[in-house]
Amino acid sequence: MCGIFGYSGKRQDGGKIVVEGLKNLEYRGYDSWGVACTTKAGITIRKDIGKISTVSSDDFSETCCLALAHTRWATHGGVTPANAHPHLSRDGTVAVVHNGIIENYAELKETLKTKGYTFVSQTDTEVIPYMIEEEMKSGKSFPDAFRNACLQFHGRYAILALHQASGMLIAARTGSPLIVGVGKDGYYIASDIPAFMEHTRTVQYLDDGEIVETDGKKITFRDIATGEERQKREIQITWTVEQAQKGDFAHFMLKEIMDQKESIARAANQDEEEIMTIAQAIRNAKGTFLVGCGTAHKACMAAEYFFSVVSGHHVNVCSAGEFKLYHHFLVPESLLIVVSQSGETADVLEAMNVAKSKGAKVLAIVNVEGSSVARAADYTLRINAGPERAVASTKAMTGQMSVMLLIAYALKNALHDGKTLLLETGALINDMLNPRYVERIATIAGNIKRHEHLYIIGKSWHYPMALESAIKIQEVSYMHAEGFAGSELKHGPIALIEPGTPCIALLGNDEVTSDMLNNATELKARGALLIGIAPKRHEIFDEWLKTPDAGAAQPIVTIIPIQILAYELAVQRGKDPDMPRNLAKSVTVK
Ligand code: M6R
Repeated sequence: MCGIFGYSGKRQDGGKIVVEGLKNLEYRGYDSWGVACTTKAGITIRKDIGKISTVSSDDFSETCCLALAHTRWATHGGVTPANAHPHLSRDGTVAVVHNGIIENYAELKETLKTKGYTFVSQTDTEVIPYMIEEEMKSGKSFPDAFRNACLQFHGRYAILALHQASGMLIAARTGSPLIVGVGKDGYYIASDIPAFMEHTRTVQYLDDGEIVETDGKKITFRDIATGEERQKREIQITWTVEQAQKGDFAHFMLKEIMDQKESIARAANQDEEEIMTIAQAIRNAKGTFLVGCGTAHKACMAAEYFFSVVSGHHVNVCSAGEFKLYHHFLVPESLLIVVSQSGETADVLEAMNVAKSKGAKVLAIVNVEGSSVARAADYTLRINAGPERAVASTKAMTGQMSVMLLIAYALKNALHDGKTLLLETGALINDMLNPRYVERIATIAGNIKRHEHLYIIGKSWHYPMALESAIKIQEVSYMHAEGFAGSELKHGPIALIEPGTPCIALLGNDEVTSDMLNNATELKARGALLIGIAPKRHEIFDEWLKTPDAGAAQPIVTIIPIQILAYELAVQRGKDPDMPRNLAKSVTVK
């Protein structure tokens, strides 16, 4: 969480560069923003609460070759201009932005206070420039002072700092992502690639425990602990600038829903040998565990059904944040499969550490290439969804389910059947995503948007889709939505139903359809306004959204109308679906 971006090089429009780049990181946090530009006169800081997207880069036209910027998702201290980053050293020569948490900041703050430092914010970040300043007071160069300060910080963080006199930009990573963009006119350091993609697609990744230093002409990577230099490879990224832009769409969320016309086929496009190796690893494993967070966790829950129904294979699924509790069951022959769009989710990284500490192997299913999860895993499969910028995960989730369905087919030695099914599913989704269908969902959204509560039921692999439906609707429209297994209704939740309460029943064309219809009928008997999402119309439905019959890929098509409904509810309730309140795209804190 929090977006970090800095530039050092030949260009004189550093302020503009970092402001424009920061706009591409806004999905990482958007409660406040700040920019530091170095000019001959010193460091100029501008910061405020609100979104960087409302700020014009023309206001940053001063000559500046060294700048940094930050978009915040508050952890310590409220959303105020004083708490917004950058934070300056007391002598005004060092500016710092930060992502993550300095866990021992309270202790460091007390020591700094005894040395005469006064604090103007409630953040943990403010100790960083003061610690650097203290180190420099004892005669150390900026790079040495920065490294020495980092050695005293505990926690998972990414820090970016600039120093006016030396003209240097330095960053450190322990747990939160940082990537260097190597350009013709200088170096870019950011928490994610979209910040600098229009300037360069050549990148170098920082690993945990590393520092990077640049004066704009050359770049040096070091080990934080020893100070020794490290060599880095340059990597060309495959994402394009266009893929990361909204184009003519009103919101990224809508663009990404529409991208699913093609993204399922891209997810299916996996190296066959690699998938077969992974299938064998699952067969050989003494226990396969499948974890993710939020929507990725619901994709894992759906995959549990894929593995069971398609290949008769058992996997253990849990939320990544709960995985620690499974450590008793892990042996070196266990396999952990982690699923993460960003590849930076703190709970997922921690689950990997738990598995690795027991000697178990890890397979990562990710979207972002070069992400922390991808680089730490033993095997990696990419879902090839392209950049997902909206906070709500849509095309990444269907990509995750697609890759796991493919693995289930590989386990059954029927990989080609799996590929064919996914290609057909992509074509079905292409047909679904037509203007009439979207219009129809918009009308339904209009009819229910003023209700306070919305309940969704599903059974079998539609149970995780009911849970996912609730996440999608809650996070973007702020409507209270809850998903249940259809069979659970009469064990409690049915008491919530009143005449007119909107309820959605997710159905397929499978062996649980008649049970689900019974559950839906129970809702209807209590006066629910019943919306059926199903391949066939049933007389109990007040509204029907047709889904194609997609066989084992049914959950993938079922979630599409829900994504559109969530989007429409958000827009029609006057909310910004791309940047929901209190959330950020990449959850890098536990
Ligand atoms: O990047 P990840 O896939 O690891 O993110 C996991 C969750 O934070 C994410 O799916 C979250 O639940 C989304 N906002 C849901 O739309």
